[in-house]
Amino acid sequence: MSIDLTAASITEVVQKTFEGAEDERVKELFTRLVQHLHEFTREVRLTGDEWFKAMDLLERVGKTCTPTRQEFVLLSDILGLSVLVDLIHHPGGGSVTDSTLLGPFYVEGRPTAENGSDISGEVAGTPLFFNGRVVGPDGTAVVGAEVDTWHSDGEGSYDVQMQDKLHGQPAMRALLTTDDEGRFWYRTVAPRYYPVPDDGPCGEILRAANRSPMRPEHLHFWLHAEGFEPLITMLVRGDDPYVERDAVFGVRQSLVVDFVQHDAGESAPDGTPMDESFQTVERTFVLARKEC
Ligand SMILES: [Fe+2]
Repeated sequence: MSIDLTAASITEVVQKTFEGAEDERVKELFTRLVQHLHEFTREVRLTGDEWFKAMDLLERVGKTCTPTRQEFVLLSDILGLSVLVDLIHHPGGGSVTDSTLLGPFYVEGRPTAENGSDISGEVAGTPLFFNGRVVGPDGTAVVGAEVDTWHSDGEGSYDVQMQDKLHGQPAMRALLTTDDEGRFWYRTVAPRYYPVPDDGPCGEILRAANRSPMRPEHLHFWLHAEGFEPLITMLVRGDDPYVERDAVFGVRQSLVVDFVQHDAGESAPDGTPMDESFQTVERTFVLARKEC
């Protein structure tokens, strides 16, 4: 190894230290990472002060993470990395439902729910009835698919952001299972557009760039079924003011849907007369078959 390094020669020297990696993929990832990281540093002529600020930022991103707040996921999201990874492997345009990013509010430990039940927890809001169906590429029902769903309340807050109010109880999130026709359905409260958490280091980045932290109104889904590829996706309200400027780039045209408004006096999809206005959303999800 040369000890007489220059700003140009150091890259190859560092890359060679990964040649002993037993895992070829590890070797490739770190060798290419060093290449691009060093090229970036040379291109912008990163100063010592800027490097220190970057290290400080990453340290604070880590310290901001908790079991219910994933600042590293958010950093990846606002830089477009999360969606880029997804687009590389799921470019879309086919017959299966497009995927998109997971977002920072998926948490383990969601309750299971029966079809038709109310998953809103103790949260008040405009009633929303969701009717979903899960099918394979040939349109046949996927029976017994597990469907995670989670979303914000009518003020744009997820349950994990109001743990004091909810006493730590999960709300507006559940795991459902499709019936013999591939259907799943539930009642909840209508979500709302919301800002990604901007009181941490990611918020500093957004403000420095004069960027909006807002995400359009949406429902999240994560589907699993035997013999099919898992699908992480979401449905976005078509007439939302932020539908074309999502802070985390997660909207895809195929995932934009109508949140249909109904007046008081109309009946809910299950036939129940409603004495207040409500919304309905419907969607069929098409899963890709797992390749053997
Ligand atoms: Fe979300």
